[in-house]
Amino acid sequence: MSLSTKHLLGIKDLLPEDISLILSTAMQFKEVLQRPVKKVPSLRDVTIVNLFYENSTRTRISFELAEKRLSADSINFAASNSSVSKGETLLDTVNNILSMKVDMVVMRHSASGAPHFLAKHIDAAIINAGDGINEHPTQALLDAYSIKEKLGSLEGKKIAIIGDIMHSRVALSNIYLLTKMGAEVTVAGPPTLIPKYIAEALGVRVEYDVMKALQWCDAANVLRIQLERQNQVLFSSLREYNMAYGIKKKMLDSLQKEILIMHPGPINRGVEIDSDVADSHHSIILDQVQNGVAVRMAVLYLLSNSN
Ligand code: CP
Repeated sequence: MSLSTKHLLGIKDLLPEDISLILSTAMQFKEVLQRPVKKVPSLRDVTIVNLFYENSTRTRISFELAEKRLSADSINFAASNSSVSKGETLLDTVNNILSMKVDMVVMRHSASGAPHFLAKHIDAAIINAGDGINEHPTQALLDAYSIKEKLGSLEGKKIAIIGDIMHSRVALSNIYLLTKMGAEVTVAGPPTLIPKYIAEALGVRVEYDVMKALQWCDAANVLRIQLERQNQVLFSSLREYNMAYGIKKKMLDSLQKEILIMHPGPINRGVEIDSDVADSHHSIILDQVQNGVAVRMAVLYLLSNSN
């Protein structure tokens, strides 16, 4: 079986069958990752460049590890120490790399749409590792995998996405994925960080009271405030944000049920989430990171078969 798409530019372009295929393939790769020898020869002779124009810890390491576990050859490119500083364009940079016989491009960029632009101009398969405020498809896939692993399915599950919805590519990819797969989604946070008309446009509920969102949901995906993408003051201070919208242990203790606490990272402890929540038994934050390797192995493997 193969995906309906040549690239992974966003969850928006995927069919529910594509998502199910990626998640079931990831389950097989997760089993491989439990073995003493965690490596398979699936992408032997495939060369992949990890092209990062924006900082990353989890995504970059996770892709590199996924490539190594699949026996691919990996090249890592960071714009900060490249000839981009001498004025080389994105397209020239990529064409130079591809001329060295590279088969796939994993790309993170601060500009929304950068991987879509590249897909129009080059033949190699492109995987979006986060573009501006648009999408972060592999994050949504690993989030979905982690929910399914803990709750058994996505269909009918209630997922709250809490925090800076306005500037979050993780929020948008999660909303596309969860609604395609039959989950219910509520976005919660301050009105200034939730886009107007999001309910009508994307089929989600909106809640400005975080406690009510926690009472409603089976899992809460808590997002960082993307200060690097904000050019105006949208809330009074980080301290006041924490007081009004931060997730605190006493909130979870007052619930009449168990919920999952998720976060894509990096965490700002004491702002959107307190340490005793991030490190509590509710938290599956490190499971998400672990599952990211298997999910990215699945994406790389399936896209290599789609070409
Ligand atoms: N979740 C995520 O994208 O983290 P990094 O920015 O560290 O890759």
